[in-house]
Amino acid sequence: MTTNATPIINTRKLYIESYGCAMNFSDSEIIASIMHEHGFENTTDELDADVIFLNTCAIRDNAETRIRERLKHLRMNKRTNKDLIIGVLGCMAERLKDKLLEEEKLVDVVAGPDSYRDLPKLVAEVDGGGRAINVLLSREETYGDLNPVRLNSNGITAFVSIMRGCDNMCSFCVVPYTRGRERSRDSQSIVKEVLELHANGYKEITLLGQNVNSYLWFGGGQKKEFKKLTNEEQETAVDFADLLELVALAVPNMRIRYSTSHPRDINEKVVNIMAKYPNICNYIHLPAQSGNSRILDIMSRNYTREWYLDKIKMIRQIIPNCGITCDIITGFCTETEEEHHDTITLIEEAQFDFSYMYMYSERPGTPAAKKLTDDIPEDVKGRRLTEIIKVQNKMSLTKNTARIGKIVEVLVEGISKKSENDWMGRSDENIVVVFPKENHKKGEIVKVLIEKATVTTLIGKSIN
Ligand code: SAH
Ligand code: SF4
Ligand code: F3S
Repeated sequence: MTTNATPIINTRKLYIESYGCAMNFSDSEIIASIMHEHGFENTTDELDADVIFLNTCAIRDNAETRIRERLKHLRMNKRTNKDLIIGVLGCMAERLKDKLLEEEKLVDVVAGPDSYRDLPKLVAEVDGGGRAINVLLSREETYGDLNPVRLNSNGITAFVSIMRGCDNMCSFCVVPYTRGRERSRDSQSIVKEVLELHANGYKEITLLGQNVNSYLWFGGGQKKEFKKLTNEEQETAVDFADLLELVALAVPNMRIRYSTSHPRDINEKVVNIMAKYPNICNYIHLPAQSGNSRILDIMSRNYTREWYLDKIKMIRQIIPNCGITCDIITGFCTETEEEHHDTITLIEEAQFDFSYMYMYSERPGTPAAKKLTDDIPEDVKGRRLTEIIKVQNKMSLTKNTARIGKIVEVLVEGISKKSENDWMGRSDENIVVVFPKENHKKGEIVKVLIEKATVTTLIGKSIN
């Protein structure tokens, strides 16, 4: 380990490419930090790299197909640089383990999400000739003590990981197998990271976890249920609502977001804290997956359509203008046309601002793969997906059109993709807003009068 007293002289170059969810992008910043301490400097040019890491996703089959294609392409770099080391990290590495070393002969390192501290050693093993693998999952690892190196950062918004793993076992989902058991990170280390981001000029943070509402820290490390804690532990325990409050108070002029909430666990305590602190954004990503209670039951989501809609009602009662987005899977095992229709009416009743929508992709080893039949033909899944996208797009446009004439506060993140003369940022409710730059600066919060709306974007002009 290099100490502060000894300057780090980084001689080798590391190129990291991230796939999948925000947690993976956040992990890549941990990986960069570990490698930096061991003599590696980051590069954004893959041709310049001594080591290439692909931090991979396994959530759907097509996520893995993309990685395989990428690995084939990277073969070219190996031809011109015979010492190049290629590593597959993250969820696909954890799922396929040594199969990746056998199948993809050009992979030198395979490392799962809990073994990143071991990466320098794994690379050294490859330097010595051979291949290296560590896919052990941990019950404690949170990387809480590490200082992430902010990669591809806009300098304004950052992710802060608050927990790892997932204990939910939704029947379709590979995450509990690729990321292991759920564990929460020390609340003080979270606050420390947030304060450092603030000191470095960041303006917005997103607290990350697969199921943030079950965050629980009581100083002992391992997650337990609240009711199983001792009295002393209960007194000092920090749940998700407490954590949100701690962070909101620590950085009152930073915006705070979080993702992802589970509909079974989101509660009034959390929503009330959101309402109490103006710096916590009025935005909740609340994946429903389906609008039909039978499908939700075989998905093992542990709630019904009615329960879900009640949560939406509770949120809108406390925060009337709360932005709400959703994840939806179409064509899950045995889904009938009527059940599919229930998902359409859920979008209409819940009035989501936006949804991420996917066709069901069976993942080997999951409860659904073991116990249910993936019996909806691909063309039917595709047609159902097209139908829900159409309904969601209509809903998004209706909701955005209703924002015309309103003034929204926008945190400027960077230049608009479409025009160099416009800024792009997000409203409190997480809607993308574009407006002419004028004298405004990146990182500023600007009041914007909305004049036009599309399915995904609000367009306006500043009134500051
Ligand atoms: N922890 C989050 C979601 C993580 S995965 C939650 O519980 O909501 C992100 C999304 O991918 C899921 O919400 C789901 O909509 C989708 N997804 C997960 N497994 C899938 C599968 N096997 N096929 C298709 N989509 C899937
Ligand atoms: Fe997967 Fe369910 Fe955990 Fe989300 S809550 S990561 S969908 S098992
Ligand atoms: Fe993919 Fe792993 Fe995230 S499977 S969605 S990268 S937790």
